[in-house]
Amino acid sequence: MSKKQPIAPIVNFFKGKDIVSISQFDRRSIETLFEHIHNLKKELHPKKTGAILINTLAALLFFEPSSRTFSSFSTAVKRLSGGTVEFHNADKVSSAVKGETLEDMGRVFENYADVIIMRHPEVGSVEKVAKVVEIPVINAGDGSGEHPTQALMDMFTLHEQFVKLDGIKGLIAGDLLYGRTVHSLLQGLSNYENVTIYLLAPKRLKLPSEIVRFLQSTKMTIVEIESEKNIPPDCHFWYWTRVQKERFSDQSEYELIKNKFILTPQLLKEKGNEDMVIMHPLPRVGEIDTRIDIDPRALYLTKQIENGIFTRMALIKLVLGR
Ligand code: NCD
Repeated sequence: MSKKQPIAPIVNFFKGKDIVSISQFDRRSIETLFEHIHNLKKELHPKKTGAILINTLAALLFFEPSSRTFSSFSTAVKRLSGGTVEFHNADKVSSAVKGETLEDMGRVFENYADVIIMRHPEVGSVEKVAKVVEIPVINAGDGSGEHPTQALMDMFTLHEQFVKLDGIKGLIAGDLLYGRTVHSLLQGLSNYENVTIYLLAPKRLKLPSEIVRFLQSTKMTIVEIESEKNIPPDCHFWYWTRVQKERFSDQSEYELIKNKFILTPQLLKEKGNEDMVIMHPLPRVGEIDTRIDIDPRALYLTKQIENGIFTRMALIKLVLGR
């Protein structure tokens, strides 16, 4: 059995820890991570290769579709000269098909690799594995639960743009019920002072009440709005998300609400401002008009992606104590 405490707070000491939930991070740990990301960017940008993960293997165990996150982790490891054992579509091709438990699979892979990076459709699945293995386990998305590395790269992108996260004002739109990136991002931002977030979602996809209650118990101000008309003109960022089709049992219900809120050039003109940024965790499936892509404020196909790689590099480096 593992000697490691699962979901241990980071408290500025990353070595040997799992990254399962953003709730493990306090402000100081986030800022230490930002420093490491900055340093890696200085050293390795653009597209250089470092030696930090030489003789290191990362197991990528993905039980849910992923293109960006999977490749972002794989790129991060390989650009630091590490190797990967890759299991894409593990739900179809691994021994899980034969009925193997996640715990057994984790125990097997810790014999192969130095770190496990895992995505799975069930909330809490990554924690299950983290509890039984000695090596660090990184959550690359557990169902509609959390996506801590996405939140950290999004927060780094905001930090790079605005320097201070204190006093930041943003709009988060789309699927706030099932969107795990949103759950982690909101919780991450709640470490900062005087943060105000406007939430815009179809009624059926509002932020779960337990998350609203948690955020209300922090220093964050949450304002739920029901129409684009109520977007304040002075947001620092807009974070748009897709409706999570795969979480609906009734596809006709998905079809009805999938495009309720679309970010169009018109909306940006009416409610945006010159200094703001536009973000999206991707994939986008129609909720941001492609005419926005060439706007210099749109970071979802540029800075956000680039920062994803460096954030993952920094996290892997830190949990392995390199
Ligand atoms: C997100 C995810 O998987 O939660 N994508 C990603 O990791 N870049 C968002 C989504 O799928 O909508």
